[in-house]
Amino acid sequence: MNKRADFAVGKNAGLEASAFWMPYTANRQFKKAPRLLARAEGMYYWTADGRQVLDGQAGLWCVNAGHCRPKIVEAVRRQVGEMDFAPTFQMGHPAAFEFADRLSRLAPAGFSRVFFTNSGSESADTALKIALAYHRVRGEGQRIRLVGRERGYHGVNFGGMAVGGIPATRKAFGPGVAGVHHIRHTHDLQKNSFSRGQPQHGAEFADDLERVCTLHDPSTIAAVIVEPVAGSAGVLVPPKGYLERLREICTKHGILLIFDEVITGFGRLGHPFASQRFGVTPDLFTVAKGMTNGTVPMGAVFAKDSIYEAFMQGPEGIELFHGYTYSGHPLACAAGLGTLDTYEAEGLLTRAQSLEKHFEDGLHSLRGSHHVIDVRNLGLMGAIELEPRPGQPGARAYEAFLKAFEAGVLVRWTGDVLAFSPPLIVEKPQIDRIFETVRTALAAVQ
Ligand SMILES: Cc1ncc(COP(=O)(O)O)c(C=O)c1O
Repeated sequence: MNKRADFAVGKNAGLEASAFWMPYTANRQFKKAPRLLARAEGMYYWTADGRQVLDGQAGLWCVNAGHCRPKIVEAVRRQVGEMDFAPTFQMGHPAAFEFADRLSRLAPAGFSRVFFTNSGSESADTALKIALAYHRVRGEGQRIRLVGRERGYHGVNFGGMAVGGIPATRKAFGPGVAGVHHIRHTHDLQKNSFSRGQPQHGAEFADDLERVCTLHDPSTIAAVIVEPVAGSAGVLVPPKGYLERLREICTKHGILLIFDEVITGFGRLGHPFASQRFGVTPDLFTVAKGMTNGTVPMGAVFAKDSIYEAFMQGPEGIELFHGYTYSGHPLACAAGLGTLDTYEAEGLLTRAQSLEKHFEDGLHSLRGSHHVIDVRNLGLMGAIELEPRPGQPGARAYEAFLKAFEAGVLVRWTGDVLAFSPPLIVEKPQIDRIFETVRTALAAVQ
């Protein structure tokens, strides 16, 4: 408790010896010069030493309605005093049913089933397991292969890690899951750099799935998983026609198509889900993050009715031996219901449409700034890519991230990319401020 009091007055004392093994963080570097957030409201954080910081990354792509929104805070408060926990194995509680029903009404037609998890990683693994079990229950148990994509990110659990395609997230952790293959990524700097929205070139990259099908025989493949827009690899927007082609190939071969909508879900692209924006419908899709506005951890897998129905045949009994102690946790459901109330009351799931052009123009005004070799965007999701400093990949973007933070703007650093995904309540002057701050930061980086 003393530590918390110290943080509040900005002492940051003693962190070098702290027990907290921080995730995805250079622990020693951070603990020597910590950046501590103490409070949040709306579009802003306040640091432990009282500085206001504009949130240009919606927390971590999750706080889509902005911070500490009253309907969400109140719903969680109420729930925690009423019932802290209830099991969802052989038991139930009303909020889980209500939340699932409301979620399914937002989804594309035909997705009336929702399986709850607690994170994006668990959602990815759950979707892959549902795909495998679905084929088996229908008598196609030979479909045991899973296909991911280079530069994909599906979290850190074994299934998601295996189908993911970011080398650093895989290399330390052994051979992973058997029967996993990857199609090529969609990034083509030569032809598509500085594209506004969907790039013109590259629909044919989807044909790489045919190569994998030919090599392994399509009847052995259970599912293909992709992010509609790859987020963690630095906002890679699918070329025009690419997702359509992937859908066609999957349908032709009886392979399930899974969209990982952990980032793109809940309004990021101006529609509740990316599949609605692109007009391409998967068979399963995963969500997390914006589902509860980041307030309480939660994720889910949406399944097409036909997939759920396939499990509901034969003698009654547990149809899917899968679930988490906290699947449908009451606090998460309460947070989720408060989140949907907020999204609906403020029209946030479509608000990005009215801001997209302004956001795009502001972002592309960084073309020509120091070191910028690409700018890409869709909805309220964007990135700039920097020329790496020789022998020091990621260093330049990291320095720019630090400078922007010192100037009061938080943006996401990943490798040589800075990514932008403000809460969907953002106003135009705040968008301008994010890009102006980054422009100044870039000018100061060698
Ligand atoms: C597309 C995608 N899938 C899965 C995940 C993993 O989510 P979590 O960190 O909640 O496990 C992420 C996280 O950023 C993501 O972007």
